[in-house]
Amino acid sequence: MLSNKICIVTGAAQGIGKTIVERFAKEGAACVYACDVNIGDMEESYSKDKNIAVRQLNVCDRQAIQTLIETITQEHGRVDVLVNNAGVTRDNLIDRMTEEDWDIVLDVNLKGVFNMTQAIAPLMIENNSGSVITMSSVVGTDGNIGQSNYAATKGGVIAMTKGWAKEFARKGAQVRANCVAPGFIETPMTKDLSEKVLEHMKNKTPLARMGTSTDIANGVTFLASEQSSFITGQTLKIDGGLVI
Ligand SMILES: NC(=O)c1ccc[n+]([C@@H]2O[C@H](COP(=O)([O-])OP(=O)(O)OC[C@H]3O[C@@H](n4cnc5c(N)ncnc54)[C@H](O)[C@@H]3O)[C@@H](O)[C@H]2O)c1
Repeated sequence: MLSNKICIVTGAAQGIGKTIVERFAKEGAACVYACDVNIGDMEESYSKDKNIAVRQLNVCDRQAIQTLIETITQEHGRVDVLVNNAGVTRDNLIDRMTEEDWDIVLDVNLKGVFNMTQAIAPLMIENNSGSVITMSSVVGTDGNIGQSNYAATKGGVIAMTKGWAKEFARKGAQVRANCVAPGFIETPMTKDLSEKVLEHMKNKTPLARMGTSTDIANGVTFLASEQSSFITGQTLKIDGGLVI
């Protein structure tokens, strides 16, 4: 589905991002740049995959983003797909949330998405083709106790994406922007939730289970591919029916 595409995935070291990278590579992408602030043993584990390139990248570092994009442009002349997946949580009730908790989540989940998209979308527009996919959350539309900071970012990316869908397609450029809004997904991000919370979320989910990172990668691959070529400005909920 992604033959010959040049793709960038942020937050690619684990969880949803890792599954997306592996799926894109399997779908025939020419190169998937797997970027994370903490690359751990990624270089070693992908050393045999010729179409996966590991890059250490902090989405808050605008200079590093610029340098990476210049290198990719020199190597390939284009970027076809950007997946803004990197994200962090610092949950607390509003009376206990520190300014630091607020700032770090806004910096990574909202400004980080802006930083990446600002660096890459102009190339897509110039090339008249591209797909930007940003990870939102059901919390971005419905809110959640103890997640003022996270909800603000996940709602913010939906609003930015709607604007980008209109902005990027001006003069007829086939550049699309969409969000994916996962429900509760089994990844390192959710591993520390208590049994009680997990049970509660499963009970609230019509399909009565947590999602997997493969469930999310399926939707992201669709939005990255030409199969979704007339879809832009949308948020695809992948949540087992949690938000209907
Ligand atoms: N797991 C869920 O239930 C769930 C639900 C809704 C939305 N999401 C969203 O999906 C995305 C992936 O979630 P996950 O569960 O796989 O998370 P995760 O915590 O398992 O992985 C996130 C990755 O982002 C990386 N990262 C953090 N800060 C970064 C930075 N400044 N620059 C680059 N990389 C950075 C981390 O190192 C990590 O590898 C996030 O945006 C998250 O908010 C997850």
